Amino acid sequence: MRMSPLLALALAASATATVSAAPLADLPAGRLGQAVQHGHDMIVNPGADPDMKAYVGNALSCANCHTDAGNNERPGNFRSTAGRYPSYSKREDAVITLEDRIANCFMRSMNGMRPGTDSRVVVDMAAYISWLDRGKPILAPQPPAAADPYPAMLHAAGRGDVVAGAGVYRAECASCHGATGAGVSGSFPPLWGPDSYNAGAGLANVAKLARWVKGNMPLGNAHLDEKQAFQVALFVDTQARPDFVLSQHLPAGIRPQDYNAQVRSETDTVESNLRKAGLSLMALR
Ligand code: HEC
Ligand code: HEC
Repeated sequence: MRMSPLLALALAASATATVSAAPLADLPAGRLGQAVQHGHDMIVNPGADPDMKAYVGNALSCANCHTDAGNNERPGNFRSTAGRYPSYSKREDAVITLEDRIANCFMRSMNGMRPGTDSRVVVDMAAYISWLDRGKPILAPQPPAAADPYPAMLHAAGRGDVVAGAGVYRAECASCHGATGAGVSGSFPPLWGPDSYNAGAGLANVAKLARWVKGNMPLGNAHLDEKQAFQVALFVDTQARPDFVLSQHLPAGIRPQDYNAQVRSETDTVESNLRKAGLSLMALR
């Protein structure tokens, strides 16, 4: 279904309205409550704090992907996030904290520099994410993962899926994100190109993007079936975006003991991500 330009505009207005973040209710008193609010505001709008902006390398906000600042039930939400950390991360081959996880999204999804895990920016975001889980047990038991069709679809993907995905994109996404995926500054975030997430980001993984799109997009009207979500994800993740070279996202002079990971060298490109899934970019394009 194609979105009417008016509806698209109304949704854009509501998406930008959250940029001037509303005050949260039921905050703890004093400095802690201020930290929670500030963490929330930076997640919604990286411009809310110059210290945060300095760590960001693209045109995205955290809440562009963690919609409603993570306070909903859609893929990418922050409900029951805080209680799951510290936990083992395969990517870093290390036990990481919530603060590490936040810092890693700066390097990858935000294509920027890794802030210190004891920086005010990261601590205040962790305060907000932890506040969302108030009253819940730590290490909350996880619901069993739903059956996930995307790895099998990825395994069997071919050029026909990319072509079909381009069709889904034109019909369901281009009205907001634009024919070239560049979005509209201030309203609709870029899906590929230099101002979007880099090849080391979670959404650069086609199966993860498909899962996320199925639950979140088109904004306010998520209705794609699994096949459409997969095909449009494959189309988006075969477009050009920044490579991820880990060393370029760690601050100069960082001591090895200050980066909590065993994996110290990583390079991801659009091509290598597809190769990992057994696919060839050449054959798909
Ligand atoms: C381009 C989309 C995107 C952006 C922008 C983004 N993230 Fe994420 N983030 C993801 C995805 C996708 C995952 C899940 C990744 C996975 O499954 O490996 C994730 C995971 C996380 C998690 C772990 C959630 C959990 O329950 O374990 C945290 C915390 C997080 N992000 C914080 C942030 C913060 C803070 C920002 C802004 C500085 C940010 N993210 C920006 C896509 C994004
Ligand atoms: C009505 C306008 C609209 C439509 C249609 C739409 N989006 Fe979005 N999309 C948005 C907005 C606005 C955001 C940011 C969400 C927020 O900040 O709450 C977004 C965020 C995203 C993001 C995460 C941020 C980024 O730039 O990477 C992805 C990925 C995405 N959309 C993909 C899609 C896909 C794929 C489709 C088509 C199936 C689609 N969108 C359709 C408005 C739209």
